[in-house]
Order: sequence, then structure tokens, then C-alpha cells
Amino acid sequence: MTREPDDLERLVAQVLASARYRALCPTVVRAIGAQELAARGSLKAAIKATKGRLHQIAGAFLERTPPYAAWLTALRDAAGDPARLRAVCLEALGHHASTRERLPDLERFYLTIFAALPPVGRVLDLGCGLNPLAAPWMPLSPGASYLACDVYSDLSAFLDAALPLLGLNGASSVCDLSGAPPPWRADVALVLKTLPLLEHLRRGAGRDLLQQIDAPHLVVSFPTRSLGGRNVGMAATYSAQMRAIAAAEAWQLQPLEFANEIVFVVRKGN
Ligand SMILES: C[S@@+](CC[C@H](N)C(=O)[O-])C[C@H]1O[C@@H](n2cnc3c(N)ncnc32)[C@H](O)[C@@H]1O
Repeated sequence: MTREPDDLERLVAQVLASARYRALCPTVVRAIGAQELAARGSLKAAIKATKGRLHQIAGAFLERTPPYAAWLTALRDAAGDPARLRAVCLEALGHHASTRERLPDLERFYLTIFAALPPVGRVLDLGCGLNPLAAPWMPLSPGASYLACDVYSDLSAFLDAALPLLGLNGASSVCDLSGAPPPWRADVALVLKTLPLLEHLRRGAGRDLLQQIDAPHLVVSFPTRSLGGRNVGMAATYSAQMRAIAAAEAWQLQPLEFANEIVFVVRKGN
């Protein structure tokens, strides 16, 4: 169907004008919007479908208005008190679906994963959600750097301010991982429960991302239950996909199983 040349501009502007999506990375809105405009009969239908897909890849996980300013105040007030800092982080981690379901096992989760890695002084957390607030549970080297990215600019600004309050040399930026990872080198890249979402944007985007990350080790995970709690053979499907990528690249894989998540510690080699 032939489209008005500015339909895509209108779609992007209207989606970014909504309270729910105003902080989203415009590149992601544009990419999905272009696909939906090509597939739908009207601009209105394309806008609705674009918002639906943005919900699937991002909106469904994070509550509508996270109290970022209050969390920053609480983190500042807890400065120098590791137990209080952890308590503030735990409270905030419960506001993102991905980190919330990890909370009952958070300590064991990161101890087990980091035991499978050499000492880590520089972490990359891609499609991070609120996971950087789990850094106090990660056995990182003293003075570690923590670089994080996600599609939300308000989340990113919050993490940029929060990471130094956790004693980390940290930074956060907005990214679209279906394009390329930020050009940062790290000892390990965390790609937790994010690859299946990238495949919604572009087939093959997950494999491309893993290839492009500049780190000798990756920690890649997949959900083994849907957000609604159903187990629909996800572990077997995602494990097969990860094994196929690793076999093609000659990467070594170490699988680790947790309650709602299967994790692969990947050694990329040189
Ligand atoms: C399932 S959540 C996982 C969050 C975090 N990695 C964790 O496991 O706690 C997926 C995250 O990826 C982000 N995301 C989705 N599409 C993305 C993209 N194209 N580029 C960067 N991040 C993306 C979402 O906003 C969301 O925070």
C-alpha cells in the first residue's frame, strides 16, 4: 500500500507523545512503526499495533511510573551503610518483572554465575532493566566499572545517578540492541532475558548482538516461564537456540538452571 511520506513521522510523534512511551528510544519506535505501517491498513491501526509491540518488548516489564527520584533520595540517605543500600535496592528491584522474579534467589543467582567466571572488573549490562541495582549481590573486583543500557531514557538517567551511589564506577545510556551494542569493552556482558525480545524486532538480531559484544565472556539468560507464569516448553526451545549459536561460533557454554530462568555462561574465546 502507498503511504503518505510523513505517516512514519506522525506515528513516531504520536507514540512518543503518550505518557507510557515518551521516554522510549525513538529508534525502536521508528523501527517497529515502519514495520506496522507496511503491514496495516491505516495510520491509526499502525499506531495501535506499534504500542502493542512496545508493550511486549518493554512496557510489560516495568511499572508505569517508577519513583526514580524517591529511590535516588533513599540511596543517598543510605550512603556508607551497605545493609540499608541493599534494602533500598531490593525494594526497587521489585518494580521490574524480570528482577522481581529473581529476588527469592538473588544471592545464589549471582554467586553461582560469578563462580563460573574469572575476576570481573568491568561489566556490561545490556537491556538492563533495573538489574544494575543487583550489583551489591555480584562479587565484583574492587573499583569495578558497570556500564548499562536499555531503551528508556528516564531509566537510564536514574541508573547513571544510582550506580556511583552503589560505589561503582558506573554509567548508563539509551540503546537499541537490535542495531548494535554500545561500543564498550568489558570482562563480561550480561544479556539477561533480553534476546527473545530482540527477535521480535528483527530476526537474527540476538545472534548478531552476541557476535558484536566486545567481551570474552557473556552471561546470556532466557525465561523458562512466561510473564503469566505458564511453562510452555521455553527452556528447551531457548536452549536449542543458544546451543546452535554457540556451535556455529565455536563458543563454550556452561548452562546453569534457576527457578524461572536458564543461564548460559559463554566463553567466546579470544
Ligand atoms: C525481560 S527484560 C530483562 C531485564 C534485565 N536484563 C533483567 O533480566 O533483569 C528485557 C529488557 O530489555 C529491554 N529492551 C527491549 N528491547 C530492547 C532493545 N531493542 N534495546 C535495548 N533494550 C531493550 C526492555 O526495556 C527490558 O528492560
